[in-house]
Amino acid sequence: APVVVAIDGPSGSGKSTVSRAVAARLGLSFLDTGAMYRAMTWWMLANEVDVEDAEAVAVACGKPVIVSGTDADGPTITVDGQDVSGPIRGPEVTAKVSAVAAVPSVRARLVELQRGCAEVAERGIVAEGRDMGTVVFPDATVKVFLTASERARAERRAAELRAKGVDEATITAMAADLARRDAADSSRETAPLAQAADAVLVDTSDLTLEQVIDRIAALVEE
Ligand code: CDP
Repeated sequence: APVVVAIDGPSGSGKSTVSRAVAARLGLSFLDTGAMYRAMTWWMLANEVDVEDAEAVAVACGKPVIVSGTDADGPTITVDGQDVSGPIRGPEVTAKVSAVAAVPSVRARLVELQRGCAEVAERGIVAEGRDMGTVVFPDATVKVFLTASERARAERRAAELRAKGVDEATITAMAADLARRDAADSSRETAPLAQAADAVLVDTSDLTLEQVIDRIAALVEE
């Protein structure tokens, strides 16, 4: 069977960077499932769907055509043929994505797309998100749950934003938004962020990026 590496964890645990680097090193495809929830949210906002209305979101969620390019050297995401990789990282989408991701029909639709990506991946795939090991790929070859102390996560996010020239007041506001989103993702009814029973816990607080990548690559090569 093709290799599936399932990586879950909260925001700021280093998940995206680590997952992509592991995929590149091992020659596997890479899937950022958060980008799919963000793309769905972007489409809802662009089409003026009230994202706080779960019923409205459920009715609309079959409409957008979301396509993820899974090349670890340059992952892409399009909605109805339009490249949305920039706008899905904006504050409007970030503020609303947890509400959209909590709607069961949204999850059912995206989970199906995610499994499809794994099926067509030639050598295997590294998939990252919140429910990879628990729901989407219960039989994954390797499952990893990445954590970091709240402080380490907040500092990482702040450093990323500072590097982009974001001002301190915005950084503080974004830290609060991140805490709110983590709480929402962990407490929702459908597929909450959780560590699978058979996942390996990796705390990245005091590890360098290289150390985390080495550790996960070693688990896959075992
Ligand atoms: O960029 P960041 O790590 O903060 O988040 P992300 O991985 O882009 O995911 C954005 C949001 O999508 C999360 O806050 C979750 O609400 C949702 N998500 C999810 O519900 N299930 C997944 N497998 C991936 C993301």
